[in-house]
Amino acid sequence: MANAEIGVIGGSGFYSFLDDVTEVQVETPYGPPSDSLFLGEIAGRRVAFLPRHGRAHGLPPHRINYRANLWALRSVGVRQVLGPCAVGGLRPEYGPGTLLVPDQLVDRTKARTQTFYDGLPLPDGSASEVVHISLADPYCPEGRSTTLAAARGHGWEPVDGGTLVVIEGPRFSTRAESRWHAAMGWSVVGMTGHPEAVLARELGLCYTSMALVTDLDAGAETGEGVSHEEVLKVFAANVGRLRTVLFDAVGGLQPSETRDCLCSHALDGIDTGLE
Ligand code: ADE
Repeated sequence: MANAEIGVIGGSGFYSFLDDVTEVQVETPYGPPSDSLFLGEIAGRRVAFLPRHGRAHGLPPHRINYRANLWALRSVGVRQVLGPCAVGGLRPEYGPGTLLVPDQLVDRTKARTQTFYDGLPLPDGSASEVVHISLADPYCPEGRSTTLAAARGHGWEPVDGGTLVVIEGPRFSTRAESRWHAAMGWSVVGMTGHPEAVLARELGLCYTSMALVTDLDAGAETGEGVSHEEVLKVFAANVGRLRTVLFDAVGGLQPSETRDCLCSHALDGIDTGLE
């Protein structure tokens, strides 16, 4: 089986022009991932790209098989994951084109399976433990500082930290919901950041979110509210520089075998049955 060390969950804009990309279909006990994995090399590091919404962008956020996605990445050897995503800004100063590397997460989704440890027999028939992982700090501190440095290296001053609130979608927030999110002190709102970070931690993987603001969310602006068209347009306009930062971050990540961050110790002392 082909292998990789670093995973990137994001659209085809991140890998389609790489020279040597191998497409690998991966089966998981949780069903199919969003698409094949696309394996390539960046800065001498083996990377597995997974289009979060499928290559034809046919999967809305609430239909993504997040467990299969994280499982598939781990099964090819991935230990560190970068998750670029589009978000709405909840403060006027976080306008379109802002890059925010969150350090906190709020889950406002409603119907997503968000654990591998649900007390049911494991796919291989053995009994699963009841596991409660710590998620006080949901993102990898090493991955965050590497990503922030990569952005600064390209003159794109990122917002260092902030809270990403994840809604169920696929609709955008009402103005009242949006104002409430802002009043709570949360920074940006998206639809895909949860349960990605949680499931990564449950597998002992590092996870770093790279949140690109594509719009001001409904409560932070006085216009018509957010449109999908606007989100796609701003994302497309920024995907080039996001890719550059992402590639530099890949090159700057710690070697997976020497990881000593909190994520690498998340499962210490827990018998998960993971190989
Ligand atoms: N993704 C991009 N913009 C968003 C918004 N305003 N709300 C939720 N998800 C988004």
